[in-house]
Amino acid sequence: MTNFDQIIDRTTSDSVKYDARKAVFGREDVTPLWVADMDFPVPDAVSKALIERAKHPVFGYTLHSDSMFEAMQDWFLKRHNWVIAQKEIIMCPGVVPSMHAAILALSEPGDKVIVQPPVYPPFFSAVTETKRELLLNPLVIKDKQYQIDFDHLEQCAAQGAKLLLLCSPHNPVGRVWLNEELEKLLDIARRYDLIIISDEIHADLVFPHYQHTALATLTDDVSIVSVVSPSKTFNIAGLGLSCLVSKNIEHRKAIKKVFEEWHMSACNPFSIVAFEAAYRNGADWLDDLMEYLAQTKLDVEAFFEKNLPAIKVFEAQGTYLLWLDCRSLNMTDSELKSFFIDKAKLGLNTGLSFGESGSGFMRLNIAAPRVVIMKALNDLKLAFDKRTSV
Ligand SMILES: Cc1ncc(COP(=O)(O)O)c(C=O)c1O
Repeated sequence: MTNFDQIIDRTTSDSVKYDARKAVFGREDVTPLWVADMDFPVPDAVSKALIERAKHPVFGYTLHSDSMFEAMQDWFLKRHNWVIAQKEIIMCPGVVPSMHAAILALSEPGDKVIVQPPVYPPFFSAVTETKRELLLNPLVIKDKQYQIDFDHLEQCAAQGAKLLLLCSPHNPVGRVWLNEELEKLLDIARRYDLIIISDEIHADLVFPHYQHTALATLTDDVSIVSVVSPSKTFNIAGLGLSCLVSKNIEHRKAIKKVFEEWHMSACNPFSIVAFEAAYRNGADWLDDLMEYLAQTKLDVEAFFEKNLPAIKVFEAQGTYLLWLDCRSLNMTDSELKSFFIDKAKLGLNTGLSFGESGSGFMRLNIAAPRVVIMKALNDLKLAFDKRTSV
């Protein structure tokens, strides 16, 4: 079984999370709990497959093998009850470029695109950089959790929006959308002819008692472009390989045309090997990982409740990202940011980077050995104790 408590020195591996600290936080001594990758080793099967491939001395142009597709199709059938035909899949080296390509392919400059903040920042830039118009449908907090404001969503759709970018499960608020919520969303999409681009990169990172539903399994009559990847699930984001899935042949043709225009290579000898090994042999590792993360999540929640009750943790139903409500500290966003960085020496994402409704929040990545996370929380508490004693 993988030892998730093992501390791995990532400073020797050109890691963004560690080696970009100076650039992002202005100092190198913060504990990095920000960018969404994990400080855990990948499944053994993935390492072994990569080592095996590295033994072959030629690294020429590479294609996607049938067995790679089969591994992915099997995974989604078994874990998500989702039947995907190979012809429905378009490979891409990342989810963010996939979203850009889908937006370019399925809308025109000036078209309205709905985004539900607070949300992963590239959702905004994918719209603005492609010269589409952002229509914000902010999530609302009800019954201690974030929910979709369906009345407002319908108003956005009625303004003639062309696309909706859905984050499912949702980064950063950690919601795993219920079928009932997804059905309501589909109903609006159906009535207003909205195409949904559903980013399901966190689909496999779901905690006990919650169930992710792949949007595409719920309907045949709404146009959906799903985007999935083993990158978050198995901690192989640096290898860059993801899939767009669409049943609509015209949409697939349009997306492929965008990729052709970019002259971008969709894979490399290592990405395909890791992709296949992860989907084919990574299930037990993932189950162990989720058990480990579930315990860390409980420990973190208990820590805040006992030691820093002014910060409220939104219960993450999925993802390894916890959304911390710091609003009752009455700090401005820049005070909050500098308190975490300079006083507690912690590198988290600011809530504001997920849109204005993230003001007063911080995002904590708990995918590191538990001892690292608990030390970070202790550092935060010590910083608070010092602040209140002066
Ligand atoms: C919701 C979401 N989509 C996409 C990405 C990034 O995907 P990629 O690295 O494949 O572009 C992330 C990374 O954190 C994410 O949280």
